[in-house]
Amino acid sequence: MTSRIASLTDFLLMQIERSAEVRESATTRKPLNRQIYQAIREAILSQLLPAGWQLPSSRDLARGLALSRNTVTYAYEQLLAEGYLETRAGAGTFIADTTPDQLPETHPHTAPLIDPSGQSELSARGAKLVQQAGVSDLQWGAFMPGVPDVTLFPNKVWSRLQNKHWRRSQAELLTYGQGGGYHPLRTAIADYLRVARSVNCNADQVIITTGIHQSLDLIVKLLGEYGDTAWVEDPCYWGTRSVLSSVGINPVGVAVDAEGMNIRSANLREPPRFICTTPSHQYPLGMVMSLSRRRMLLEYAATHKSWVIEDDYDSEFRYGSRPLASLQGTDTQGRVLYMGTFSKTLFPGLRIGFIVVPESLATAFSTGVSELYRGSQVFLQAVLADFMREGHFASHIRRMRLVYAERLQLLQDAIKDNFGDTVEITGGDTGLHLTLGLPSHCDDFVISREARSAGIIARPLSRYYMSENTTSRGLLLGYGCVPNAHIRPAFDVLAAIIKKHI
Ligand SMILES: Cc1ncc(COP(=O)(O)O)c(C=O)c1O
Repeated sequence: MTSRIASLTDFLLMQIERSAEVRESATTRKPLNRQIYQAIREAILSQLLPAGWQLPSSRDLARGLALSRNTVTYAYEQLLAEGYLETRAGAGTFIADTTPDQLPETHPHTAPLIDPSGQSELSARGAKLVQQAGVSDLQWGAFMPGVPDVTLFPNKVWSRLQNKHWRRSQAELLTYGQGGGYHPLRTAIADYLRVARSVNCNADQVIITTGIHQSLDLIVKLLGEYGDTAWVEDPCYWGTRSVLSSVGINPVGVAVDAEGMNIRSANLREPPRFICTTPSHQYPLGMVMSLSRRRMLLEYAATHKSWVIEDDYDSEFRYGSRPLASLQGTDTQGRVLYMGTFSKTLFPGLRIGFIVVPESLATAFSTGVSELYRGSQVFLQAVLADFMREGHFASHIRRMRLVYAERLQLLQDAIKDNFGDTVEITGGDTGLHLTLGLPSHCDDFVISREARSAGIIARPLSRYYMSENTTSRGLLLGYGCVPNAHIRPAFDVLAAIIKKHI
């Protein structure tokens, strides 16, 4: 026993009393067996109790501490299980030798051990991802873009289907996902896409993921090399840029005009590995890619062996006319990977999306998705398959299209009443948001911050551009998750803020 500890009993009594003093109340006090365990453990780690030292028997220690023997036995057993103590047959319980093994000689890292911000610990990619993060800390309320009204989701139908699967409780649904996902769901999606989005596919080409973020991650990991380039629309969805950069793919901005992605000769000289586009509803400005642009893009991709990544995130909600056909549907060379999601049609928390890959890639992607992520939510995939097969998906979309069309109209009316024709509205005929253009002298970041202080979400358009030089000013206004009665009063508050800056 060290000279600093006259006896383990006294030492433990001291520790227990001290810990009782620092605890604020009896309810936060740890059980005595934990306190004994912890006190001995700390004494071993700080070398107050040296290796080889013999502990008193649990009976003696219990008597000394005036506690039940069980309390001490528990602490000893826990310490034995964790390797702090060892028993020697016939001799008793001893402190084990826990001196760290000698490391082979290495060059120590010169960075400080603890960086409170965590920044210096990050890779260059990680630091960029965190510094330029576009994700909002709020996901609900006026005027959060891209969020559907989840309160109108048919919970009862979903829970009935879910219960049905729980009752059957098949191992297949409760273990890791295999291949490209739950096959009946892949079939239901293929059937839906052929009719609703003119996508050419069979079920084996449909790969289930946790959404477009994961779909993009998988595509670039399986088809790209570190350092490849990807054309992205400028402006574009922040998530596209973040996923690409995080896996070492360089996003190169291509400007958009009224016909969508506007590829100029400067771009054409260096063919990219990937071309990321939102042809049915440009994000965030809302234009639809013209047929001639689509054909040019497909021809270019086929000639230069680039992959076109089509993000079809919200075109189910098209007001006034039928949704437009997908780009994939006009591709005859197998260069398009089509990504879809249930985040807008059902609810984002579901985290189910899919990729339709060319037939030649179907087997590789189906292996890749389960190798990297071990599948996703098979149980929910089974529920969703039934939800689609029984017609609830189609009727929910029909119902929500009417709800959103009404909200869009209310928002457009509120904008008109406040600003007349002095501001431009774009992208309002599809999806769950529109873009309100602002004069170039308006700082949309400042307006967005002031709006936020007033309880309104209005994401600044310039946030979505690749560089300051190309930036237009404006605000993205989502109406999907705003009840009809809130739209006008919320916009009036926002309009008062905007008017101060115009
Ligand atoms: C253009 C675009 N793509 C993808 C997503 C995200 O899709 P998911 O939820 O499937 O990852 C969004 C979400 O707002 C989006 O706006």
